[in-house]
Amino acid sequence: MPASVLVGTQWGDEGKGKVTDLISGDFDCVVRYQGGANAGHTVIANGHKLALHQVPSGVMYEGVVPVIGNGCIVDPEILLSEIDMLEGQGVSCDLLKISGNAHIVMPYHKDLDGANEKRLGKNLIGTTKRGVGPCYKDKMDRIGLRVQDMLDEKIFREKLESALVSTNAILAKVYGMPTYTVEKICETYLPMAERIKPYICESSLFLNEELEAGKNILFEGAQATMLDIDHGTYPFVTSSNCTAGGAVTGSGVGPTNIDRVLGIAKAYLTRVGSGPFPTELPEGDEVGDKLSSVGHEFGVTTGRKRRCGWYDAVVVNYAARVNGLTDLAITKLDVLGCLDTIKVCVAYECDGKRYTTVPEHQSVFYHAKPVYEELPGWKCDISGCRDFYQLPREAKDYLDFIEQLADVRVSIVAVGPDREQTINRHWK
Ligand code: GDP
Ligand code: IMO
Ligand code: MG
Repeated sequence: MPASVLVGTQWGDEGKGKVTDLISGDFDCVVRYQGGANAGHTVIANGHKLALHQVPSGVMYEGVVPVIGNGCIVDPEILLSEIDMLEGQGVSCDLLKISGNAHIVMPYHKDLDGANEKRLGKNLIGTTKRGVGPCYKDKMDRIGLRVQDMLDEKIFREKLESALVSTNAILAKVYGMPTYTVEKICETYLPMAERIKPYICESSLFLNEELEAGKNILFEGAQATMLDIDHGTYPFVTSSNCTAGGAVTGSGVGPTNIDRVLGIAKAYLTRVGSGPFPTELPEGDEVGDKLSSVGHEFGVTTGRKRRCGWYDAVVVNYAARVNGLTDLAITKLDVLGCLDTIKVCVAYECDGKRYTTVPEHQSVFYHAKPVYEELPGWKCDISGCRDFYQLPREAKDYLDFIEQLADVRVSIVAVGPDREQTINRHWK
């Protein structure tokens, strides 16, 4: 397995951090290929519970090289505080590598993220306010600053001066907000640049040399398929390609090196922020409240309460298609132990038509009514199970049903947040 991609199949927070941590020990490098500090990946290992935003979850293993690829955006302040937090917990970041081509999140990106949301009013996206959209916008507009610009103060100042011409005009004239000077930003960014310099690396070259030397790479997706800028519920998405194809452009590793794509799916569904969600349970629904409290469904990055709903096989089947999934990991199966019966959405109905794949037209998706099949619950604690055959019959049937609907084998089952609380069926 030269390279594998791990990708969220739903609307994020599927447990990508946990599964990445679980399997990272089998790889030599773990690479983030898109997104920035909007991600919040929880890792619980060796008694440590950590929330990672920028650093790949593979950092927990000594000898595994964590790489922040060119497709990512880097918030220097959050990155450095994360490195300090990790090192404070005894987790070394000495091997960390950051692509010189990754873009830098500037303070004005965060201002603009907040201002855009305010302007949208009730149509807001519900972003994490980490400056993600505005930073990727500047990248596409070719006025972004990249990590490599931190290597040369003169270049950093020149590029910043140029970017501020249009940015300050927008801040002042469109939003009536305070503007920035080169000096003000340099005061905080240049000292941070000094600390980041040692990690900067030609990461595409490094990763390809590793592959040539017979090493294995894991790509750790952030966000998820339904938040992908092209394949998600646009405009209620993030501003990068979270799907498996993003691993190629976001790292400079060719697609022929990838032989497995592991989709992570929660055994039910959650979403944070705005946008359509066909199987959402209404506010105050008893089952929704149970999933929320038993599953501790609160955002790692923003602390927001996650919207909860039933497992949507149409969404995961779509994720199987757009990512080319070879394997599935089903997480949080233990949480469903609190329910008498469990619903699974097997299709949508809209205007008298039945859909078994995510409809391309936004209006159809907005008005899609889920068609459910109801399965019996198992009503017991499965968090101690370590083997598929230890699971109650109803839980095995639930997994078999999911597998059949996705047409992808379920290779990993997570039954608790700890690394050990896992059933590994076919992943190795
Ligand atoms: P990510 O963004 O995809 O990495 O997911 P998050 O870390 O944002 O959210 C997943 C949450 O579920 C975290 O609090 C994990 O510790 C927790 N978690 C992951 N897998 C399981 C599981 O199988 N069972 C339970 N009960 N919790 C889990
Ligand atoms: P992980 O990697 C869940 C959502 C936000 C918002 C939309 C756009 O932990 O799964 P952005 O700040 O990216 O411009 O927000 O995307 N969002 C996430 N939802 N998990 C995430 O990351 C998310 N990152 C962004 O809530 O709806
Ligand atoms: Mg998360």
